[in-house]
Amino acid sequence: MRYGILGTGDVAHAIATKLIGLGHEVMMGARSVTNEKALSWAKNNGERAFNGTFADVARFGERVFNCVQGIHSLEALNAAGKENLSGKLLIDLANPYIYKDGHIALDSRWSGTTSLGEETQNLLPDTKVVKTLNYLCNHLMVCPDCLPAPITGFYCGNDTGAKAEVAALLKDFGWTDTLDLGDISMSRYTEMLGAFWVAALNATGNMDWGFKLVR
Ligand SMILES: NC(=O)c1ccc[n+]([C@@H]2O[C@H](COP(=O)([O-])OP(=O)(O)OC[C@H]3O[C@@H](n4cnc5c(N)ncnc54)[C@H](OP(=O)(O)O)[C@@H]3O)[C@@H](O)[C@H]2O)c1
Repeated sequence: MRYGILGTGDVAHAIATKLIGLGHEVMMGARSVTNEKALSWAKNNGERAFNGTFADVARFGERVFNCVQGIHSLEALNAAGKENLSGKLLIDLANPYIYKDGHIALDSRWSGTTSLGEETQNLLPDTKVVKTLNYLCNHLMVCPDCLPAPITGFYCGNDTGAKAEVAALLKDFGWTDTLDLGDISMSRYTEMLGAFWVAALNATGNMDWGFKLVR
């Protein structure tokens, strides 16, 4: 499978490198084709690893991950091109966070009576947006079994088939406990959940923890 990764930060690196390990072809993209992080990642990850612009990534990927800074997500998706994402699965990991004075606030443009997940789906009506993994530290996204007990992989989206594809991919990433939360409006809750890392990081001094829904 060909995967596109929009973004060059820690999340993009964790997902892209895991996908290479699973045998896929992967392109990491940024605003510029000369982005040093994407170039270096492609150079160091073998013949199935590529780099490009956001638009190159959206064209290349049969499935695309959005790993862009949340408050710039819609700009990046516009640059990627609606036509290049049409009909495809977009797995959205972004959060609309503003960091200030040691706390997280959800940007008012994408919170309250909406969410970044919903606005992403509104921007791309012909794309199947599934929100997942946005509420835990990047290394655990692809190594949930690094923790001593299984944690829960939440996901949400409007398209049942797209969610089944994401559930299968999460299994490939090592998730044994996953939960379909419903339609894309459930992003409101997973985007709020991600902000909890401030409190847990302050209390525990590390990011090696996840959420387990005990039923
Ligand atoms: N870090 C984590 O562990 C973690 C965990 C859960 C969720 N998340 C979410 O995952 C996303 C990625 O997080 P991250 O920490 O890996 O990286 P990040 O630093 O939040 O974002 C880096 C990416 O954002 C792009 N970007 C920045 N400003 C932009 C602009 N004005 N227009 C278009 N693109 C812009 C950068 O593009 P260029 O490469 O072109 O500079 C870069 O690719 C975020 O939404 C974050 O909230 C992160």
